[in-house]
Amino acid sequence: MTVSIDLNGRTALVTGGNRGLGAAMCRTLARAGAQVAVHYARDAVRADAVVREIVAGGGRAVSVGGDFHAADAVRAMVARAQDLLGPIDIAVNNVGREETTGDPFEHGWDAFGQSFDLNVRSAYLIAQGVAPGMKARRWGRIVNILSMAAHSYPKGMAAYSTAKGAFASFTRAMAVELGPDNITVNSVSPGWIPVERHGASTIPGRLVTAGRTPLGHLGVPDDVANVVAFLASDLAGFITGVEVPVCGGVHLIS
Ligand SMILES: NC(=O)c1ccc[n+]([C@@H]2O[C@H](COP(=O)([O-])OP(=O)(O)OC[C@H]3O[C@@H](n4cnc5c(N)ncnc54)[C@H](OP(=O)(O)O)[C@@H]3O)[C@@H](O)[C@H]2O)c1
Repeated sequence: MTVSIDLNGRTALVTGGNRGLGAAMCRTLARAGAQVAVHYARDAVRADAVVREIVAGGGRAVSVGGDFHAADAVRAMVARAQDLLGPIDIAVNNVGREETTGDPFEHGWDAFGQSFDLNVRSAYLIAQGVAPGMKARRWGRIVNILSMAAHSYPKGMAAYSTAKGAFASFTRAMAVELGPDNITVNSVSPGWIPVERHGASTIPGRLVTAGRTPLGHLGVPDDVANVVAFLASDLAGFITGVEVPVCGGVHLIS
């Protein structure tokens, strides 16, 4: 018997699905049979390119915009995705990178608040929007994208680390709240996985990081996407509240 990830008949929403790790998740979920709402904040062109790619491969996808610094925009994005594709079965909360770095007392509390808005509040609002339908169908999957920085604390990234740490707690709290309705809530913590935004200037740093990674190399976006697809599937039906590090073993030595 072949065991495969089968998401036929499921509908997924991936935040930040237009680029980077999120785009790989959209492609993989679609290849597994899900129809996909590809979220973007500003770059609709990239989102539409991911949609076209999925449609060209025989899948179904739409793009939905929304800047998560505004709570109403998150709610409107979820409503639009469900209007276009029907009830969401799989919500992947992938948006979460915060631009602000540096001395936490110079950039001030607003940077923390913004990082919480991108990570925790958006995931809360999305869960609020999709959980009623998941409960009605007694099936749901929520996957939150954390970071190694939820548990290690790179200097100058206090707002990001604090928000990711809160996001880890939120994941476990939601797993308890939603478990009785057969909705699983899990998380994936990528190590450094180069995406478009990292550019060629990071190549020396990549070599250093690869050298200290137990598996001896960096990951690629599909490494994260494959775990997301597994957690989104029936195969992971008895797993909730866990965090899967996808980092080649860096979590063992950090
Ligand atoms: N790549 C890594 O090495 C790595 C490592 C650890 C954790 N992670 C985590 O993995 C996730 C994806 O990372 P990535 O590197 O693939 O991301 P990325 O390439 O930086 O993409 C960021 C995404 O977030 C969206 N976004 C930015 N600001 C937003 C806002 N205000 N409201 C709503 N959406 C917004 C962007 O949309 P637009 O393009 O439309 O602006 C884009 O889709 C993040 O949560 C990150 O913390 C990544």
